[in-house]
Amino acid sequence: MKVLAVSEDRRNLEDIRTVASGIDLITELVCHEGVLTGMTSLPTKGDVDVLMLDCRHGSIAPLADVERLGDFYPNLHTILIVDQESPELLLRALRLGVREVLKSPLVAEEVGAAFRRILQKSVAQPKGEGHVLAFMSCKGGSGASFLATNLGYVLAERTGKRVLLIDLNLQFGDAVLYVSDRRPSISLIDVVRDIRHVDMSLIKSAAVDILPNFGVISAPEDPTVSVDIRPSHIESLVRFARANFDYVLLDVGRSLDTCTIQALDLADQVYPVLQLTLPFLRDAKRLFDVFRSLDYGTTKIRPILNRVERSPGDLTEEDADRLLSYKVYATLPNHYKSVTASVNQGVPILRLDAGSPVASGLLDLVAKITGQDVRGGGRGIFSRLFARS
Ligand SMILES: Nc1ncnc2c1ncn2[C@@H]1O[C@H](COP(=O)(O)OP(=O)(O)OP(=O)(O)O)[C@@H](O)[C@H]1O
Ligand SMILES: [Mg+2]
Repeated sequence: MKVLAVSEDRRNLEDIRTVASGIDLITELVCHEGVLTGMTSLPTKGDVDVLMLDCRHGSIAPLADVERLGDFYPNLHTILIVDQESPELLLRALRLGVREVLKSPLVAEEVGAAFRRILQKSVAQPKGEGHVLAFMSCKGGSGASFLATNLGYVLAERTGKRVLLIDLNLQFGDAVLYVSDRRPSISLIDVVRDIRHVDMSLIKSAAVDILPNFGVISAPEDPTVSVDIRPSHIESLVRFARANFDYVLLDVGRSLDTCTIQALDLADQVYPVLQLTLPFLRDAKRLFDVFRSLDYGTTKIRPILNRVERSPGDLTEEDADRLLSYKVYATLPNHYKSVTASVNQGVPILRLDAGSPVASGLLDLVAKITGQDVRGGGRGIFSRLFARS
């Protein structure tokens, strides 16, 4: 790939040159000291595949240049290099189609991974067998973690497929506690630290077994260690999981950072979870605007309305469709008693109270996702085993 690096700072350009020299995918590097302000053509001859634009020192002004040049170079991929990943910068970058934002100091491994992702996007690659489903709460407390974990359980118990849930709420993730009464000492951070050697024994040692075919990798208990988790780690882990499990569920939480976007990009479907009240719909609308900026179509985004109670005068599913311009995929009823009991005990709702309206809604959702009839009791030994416990 031919790369153009642009920076006002000579030392930063040298830094880019040093890192780039170790990346095989870069066949030619042209460095330009200066800015792109007002330019409608890039300051180099011939085609450029990737623009590495240095935005260090906190300036987001160069994004205006990316926008203008994008009209003239529709196939150009841009990598931004920033000091701080502010949500404002990230959102503006996303809207311009920029997916690669690297934090300073540049790490050769991270830069290399960004180039590999760009290559993968240009050449469609076989994705492997499994399905990757991401769950995202549109606003705190929507029910995304409860649904992701319980859906994982229903999916595994009723279809016999191999299911892995990865808790990507890097700050205070607690998904595992929705389906288990213990928090493991090993977590995502241990997998990430050994990601170069990821294999099934590493995954098995990190995952809490909820069923023989359903494991959960929990988020780190100490949120301060999460800063070490990078998008490239998420990418390697999800790719490995996809190749080795039938379903990989990602609880991505609700902070929009580069790790979350990496997870959403890798997902086949994203299930944003929201409730039918105006504050939820307002936050959901903002998030759905981001989805549109990311070019996620209606087949990828499958909104779930949770805790629905149909009372006269309430907002309806049709109101949500109209406001969000992505069609609601499924609804789940509100049932405080059974959900609270399940959450407090850390026992999946299907196991604790299979007759509850929420368990029933989850069965419908799994049937819709898999296209299988899953109502007629669990498949074989697992469900018989747990029906007795
Ligand atoms: N269908 C439901 N009926 C009743 N209560 C529910 C239902 N779904 C979820 N809840 C309740 O909502 C609470 C919050 O759910 P959950 O933690 O899954 O939200 P979240 O979207 O993951 O939030 P966060 O953004 O903070 O991670 C749960 O503890 C549960 O008690
Ligand atoms: Mg959550």
